Amino acid sequence: MPEALKSAGLKSGVVGAAPEGANDQRMAAQAVREMFTSIAPRYDLLNHVLSFNVDRLWWRRAARTFHPILKRPDARVLDLCCGTGDMTFALRREAGKPSPRILGADFSHAMLQRASAKAQASARSGTNSDWIEADALNLPFPSEHFDLVTSAFGFRNLADYDAGLREIVRVLRPGGECGILDFGEPKGAMGALYRIYFRQVLPRVGTLISGVRGPYAYLPASVERFPDPQDMVERMKRAGFAEASWTPYTFGIAGLYRGKK
Ligand SMILES: C[S@@+](CC[C@H](N)C(=O)[O-])C[C@H]1O[C@@H](n2cnc3c(N)ncnc32)[C@H](O)[C@@H]1O
Repeated sequence: MPEALKSAGLKSGVVGAAPEGANDQRMAAQAVREMFTSIAPRYDLLNHVLSFNVDRLWWRRAARTFHPILKRPDARVLDLCCGTGDMTFALRREAGKPSPRILGADFSHAMLQRASAKAQASARSGTNSDWIEADALNLPFPSEHFDLVTSAFGFRNLADYDAGLREIVRVLRPGGECGILDFGEPKGAMGALYRIYFRQVLPRVGTLISGVRGPYAYLPASVERFPDPQDMVERMKRAGFAEASWTPYTFGIAGLYRGKK
């Protein structure tokens, strides 16, 4: 484990993501943005290869959870840390037609460019106005604006998890819902096998295909560092969610945090 992460101490004391070499939250956010910008060209390929395409099932399953909101044409939906847009597209597919307004937000311009290009190539969206460059910790939206906020595999990268949760609560309408899909650490024999893959195999394959070393060493370290489900659920309640829960996906390799304001 990198020194910067080792020195972070107990998981329950974790504030947010801390890529190697980042000494404060501003540096952590900058390092995360640069990291995703550097792998943007190969991000989709790597995602599908490294997850054996299970990521597609997870996005779809998470989107299905919010079917009742997505079926409302007047609903406002925000997909935070949307990256190249796959969760956003899953939400759009689940919504069908007429679709509510679904916005994808990310602070990496390069990731958004790919999202926009993919949307145009497959005519899943008519314009670029569905994508917005924004920091999840300082969203350019009024309070109580959205009916649903989602984030897939992005929340774990925030420099301050509690501030991120509070910002989601702020932009949600009363009764609005949130879905945070992210990696977990499976337990038992499955967990042991998975850890070998995640810590030994994935960083090597990721580095080989992307040609960039940092991000795929950071990935397992960031998952190890991320609060466990019980801790996250408590943080969600403290941030202002009236209800909060976690549903494991695929033996807990991933899982969906669900909150209702
Ligand atoms: C692992 S990718 C996930 C992309 C996509 N949601 C998916 O499921 O494939 C994480 C994304 O979170 C974005 N991100 C991380 N911290 C962010 C922040 N503070 N504000 C906005 N985006 C952020 C990164 O730029 C990156 O595109």
